[in-house]
Amino acid sequence: MAQQREQWGTRTGFVLAAVGSAIGLGNIWRFPYVAAENGGGAFFIPYLFALLTAGIPILILEFGLGQKYRGSAPLTFSKLNSKWEWLGWWQVLVCFFIAVYYAVIIAWAISFTFFGLTQAWGDNPSDFFFGTYLGLTGGPFELGGLQAGILIPLLLAWVVTFAALYSGVKGGIEKANKFFMPALFIIIIIIAIRGITLTGAADGLNYLFQPDFSKIWDYKIWTAAYGQIFFSLSVCFAIMIAYSSYLPKKSDVVNNAFITGFMDVGFSLLAGLAVFGILGHMAHVQGVGVAEVGKAGVGLAFVTFPAAINTLGAFAPVLGVLFFLSLTFAGLSSLISINEAAIAAFMDKFSLSRKKAVSIYIAVAAICSLVFATGAGLYILDIVDHFINNFGIVFAGLIQVILVGWFFNLKSIQEHVNAISDFSVGSWWIVCIKFITPIILGYMAIMNLIGDLKAPYEGYPGDALFWMGWFVMIVVITGGFIMQAFKTQSRDLKE
Ligand code: ALA
Repeated sequence: MAQQREQWGTRTGFVLAAVGSAIGLGNIWRFPYVAAENGGGAFFIPYLFALLTAGIPILILEFGLGQKYRGSAPLTFSKLNSKWEWLGWWQVLVCFFIAVYYAVIIAWAISFTFFGLTQAWGDNPSDFFFGTYLGLTGGPFELGGLQAGILIPLLLAWVVTFAALYSGVKGGIEKANKFFMPALFIIIIIIAIRGITLTGAADGLNYLFQPDFSKIWDYKIWTAAYGQIFFSLSVCFAIMIAYSSYLPKKSDVVNNAFITGFMDVGFSLLAGLAVFGILGHMAHVQGVGVAEVGKAGVGLAFVTFPAAINTLGAFAPVLGVLFFLSLTFAGLSSLISINEAAIAAFMDKFSLSRKKAVSIYIAVAAICSLVFATGAGLYILDIVDHFINNFGIVFAGLIQVILVGWFFNLKSIQEHVNAISDFSVGSWWIVCIKFITPIILGYMAIMNLIGDLKAPYEGYPGDALFWMGWFVMIVVITGGFIMQAFKTQSRDLKE
């Protein structure tokens, strides 16, 4: 019997889910330190350029493709050209590798929400996080056993994700986002208001926003800006195509893409205000420069921020809990989407029921994520994250815009989205997809490759970089072709 493809209940439901996917760890954990490390105010020029010429145009493209062809990424690409299915699977495999470490960062955030109540991290958050909590070993191959403190919150993260996905698009994903998104915005506004009204906050904000134009010609800043926009908007890794495949026949695409893009960037700015306002205060209390406290990289959220919370006196428990709760909520709504991109692909390919696909997939992903809950987890996470973002997503995005822009009738997609949207896109959209984005992404992809071949990332040992980085890329690429070789079992869905 022909079944109907699942659908969002309302337009708001879809937009909240897309925004929920976009806003994630990338906005609260990654954005502030990436911006600060890459020239502060000077970063915003490449960042806004990347948003307007690549982020939003690709969002429009992916919303349009998913809505028109009504399939997960592999199914959609195979409908564009029967030889292109592998690109969709490549993106799905990227999702898999992101999901398995992303869930662990959410687990840390859940733990820290509880630690925030009493500032359990004590006077030395760095020792607490790396030593007591992560049990960090001496290197990526020294696993050092599972960390009991990470396991329970990790299980919790997977249970919530499972429950949302198992209950379906409308009954699970849409409902979860209707709770997470408003809660998240309320929390971040509270933290931002408190953050910018603290003494010393202005120094923190200056550090983040004061332009450093001497850096604007450094290609690394452009790479960081594009990488941040892609990761943050969840584009080029199968998610937005899957989400928009559940849109009804008559749905706006263009306006929804602008709303999603601007809400994501707006949220990042709020998170930047919140985090750097509080860091500015800490620098003020300690009598040091913000540069000294703001350069913590990956550790910013779990080391520097707890230290900053310690300086807040009576507000410390409230802000500690709220900050990590916001990280948890933002992370969960994105984790749901990262897994849905893959689950939708398996449902489409093997004619599986949602309940079966969700159960098997989440069980496998949850087991694989245990690697990141060992004492070597942070090293492995750092390497996988670097390779997946700099190669997995960048190359997938590059191939996507080249194939769709140059080997497919891009105009037909433009006509389709214009016919159903609140307002139309002009030829600027074609220029962005066909010329600007491939040129910049192509340049970035080559520079990234040269950079990694010349110098080992973060000085990690070669065999670790091979097995956790290059080999992961080989799995992603060959996996795409292997999956394409399997026969698709039609689900006979009514269009
Ligand atoms: N878009 C998600 C994030 O920013 C993956 O974390």
